[in-house]
Amino acid sequence: MKKKVTTHTILKMKRGGEKLAALTSYDFLSTRLIDDTGIDLIVVGDSLGMVIMGYENTIPVTMEEMIHHLKAVTRARPSAMVVGDMPFMSYQASVEDAVRNAGRLVKEGGAESVKLEGGSRYVPVVEAIVHASIPVVGHLGLTPQSLHQMGGYRIQGRDDRSAAVMVDDAIALEKAGCFSIVLEGIPWQLAQSITEKVSIPTIGIGAGVHCDGQVLVLNDMLGIHDRPLPRFVKVYDNLGERIRKAVGEYVEDVKAGRFPAIEHSYMFPKKKDGSASGDDDNS
Ligand code: KIV
Repeated sequence: MKKKVTTHTILKMKRGGEKLAALTSYDFLSTRLIDDTGIDLIVVGDSLGMVIMGYENTIPVTMEEMIHHLKAVTRARPSAMVVGDMPFMSYQASVEDAVRNAGRLVKEGGAESVKLEGGSRYVPVVEAIVHASIPVVGHLGLTPQSLHQMGGYRIQGRDDRSAAVMVDDAIALEKAGCFSIVLEGIPWQLAQSITEKVSIPTIGIGAGVHCDGQVLVLNDMLGIHDRPLPRFVKVYDNLGERIRKAVGEYVEDVKAGRFPAIEHSYMFPKKKDGSASGDDDNS
């Protein structure tokens, strides 16, 4: 079994030039399965709003929903470090809210660190959460909770000015105490430049190969989705199609009376005189 991944492990990986592999997970069994692969970080992302809850975007996700899914994930006791996403409006209104809600993700959900979206203006929030002994992951670039402000899911940092602001944001987040930063939907050259300028690991999603690590939404990379995927997703399997095929065969079998077969059925136990046959296996 892999040794528990901690903030120290993550920081050491950057120093040693070791790439970090992260995925999202939202439930107990998926967590068990992916943890066996040696994954380093499991993000219980607010992407669960779309992937699990069927919302249009991440904005409606609540603290209660995050805690519910965090509990399922942390019950699997993964070796990977568990990051709990702070949902929209759980940290934007005040520093007190932020600390209290980060505390809930850790205390009730079992998260080992929390992630929040935004740059320099969240420095006081990051500092206060870190001060409460909760490790924080920053998140810059295409930050889905700012969907309306961005005017859609647009690649960020494409012009010199916004790229420079993002570099400053990353440096500010490191100074505030973040132990890593997710970089989402930005040009790879900008991600490379940020990665070189900070001593904490950058974890890219749609940010090119030069980040210190990568993260993807588990369902996307497994091919379980109901909408077009962004180009940064590499689809490693087509489980969506395979689920459809398997369930389709099941439906046909039931309708045709081919399922259950005798091997899926129970029988009476053998009588003492040995007349009625059967087995006693109730499994
Ligand atoms: O919500 C999410 O799943 C995320 C990860 C992709 C980092 O923020």
